[in-house]
Amino acid sequence: MSKRRPIIGGNWKMNTNAESAVALARGVADGCAGLSGVEVFVCPPFPYLTHVGSALNNAVMLAAQDLYHEPDGAFTGEISTAMLADCGVRAVLTGHSERRHVIGEGDALINKKTRAALNAGLLAVLCVGEKLDQRDAGETDAVNERQIRAGLAGVTPDQMARVVIAYEPVWAIGTGKTATPADAQDAHAKIRAVLTDLYGPEIAGATRIQYGGSVKASNAAELFGQPDIDGGLIGGASLKTADFLDIVRAAAG
Ligand code: PGA
Repeated sequence: MSKRRPIIGGNWKMNTNAESAVALARGVADGCAGLSGVEVFVCPPFPYLTHVGSALNNAVMLAAQDLYHEPDGAFTGEISTAMLADCGVRAVLTGHSERRHVIGEGDALINKKTRAALNAGLLAVLCVGEKLDQRDAGETDAVNERQIRAGLAGVTPDQMARVVIAYEPVWAIGTGKTATPADAQDAHAKIRAVLTDLYGPEIAGATRIQYGGSVKASNAAELFGQPDIDGGLIGGASLKTADFLDIVRAAAG
């Protein structure tokens, strides 16, 4: 049994509206009340952060899908860490594959965002993962290693207590295809080895590594049962209260 507390995140992406976001948040908060042994966060779209925050309880953390690393100024359309904190946000995703591959963010920007989140006292969920062609070329571990090393450059050992890694193979996101538990475990173990090289065995052993990519109630327990998988980052299945709660319960054990 791992001593790490599993963590489950719901990434709502560009879905919901004010009403459905609040209803989803209420359902998740009710279902998580009293559950121990698992940490839960949800990432609503920016405009609904405060609505959702007021519908949550202590059992569920409010998180954001993105941030900008500058504190303020002429950055049209961007959102600072102080603005997020003002809305009650305590955690934020960085480097999600849709930010990397749809919006075009590179490792250097993702590193700035990760450090800004940590410097602001937020929990940073750094997402990494290979594309299908990279997997087919046998580059999975090299891609993860590069994204981890670049994403965490300048992150101090103390700050690692507020870092979660989300391993999300890009070909598994929103496709219904999931890495086999054995393949996912293998990638997670390699990621932990990179963390050991960077920060030593104690910090690496304490860092949570979530799996993401078409996690659903039917495959969650087997994935979360792997020794180096510490919960999941959930997209599609996080939009349905019952499905998300089944996944949370699978992690709570
Ligand atoms: P999915 O998304 O669960 O819909 O595959 C996961 C994610 O993008 O975090």
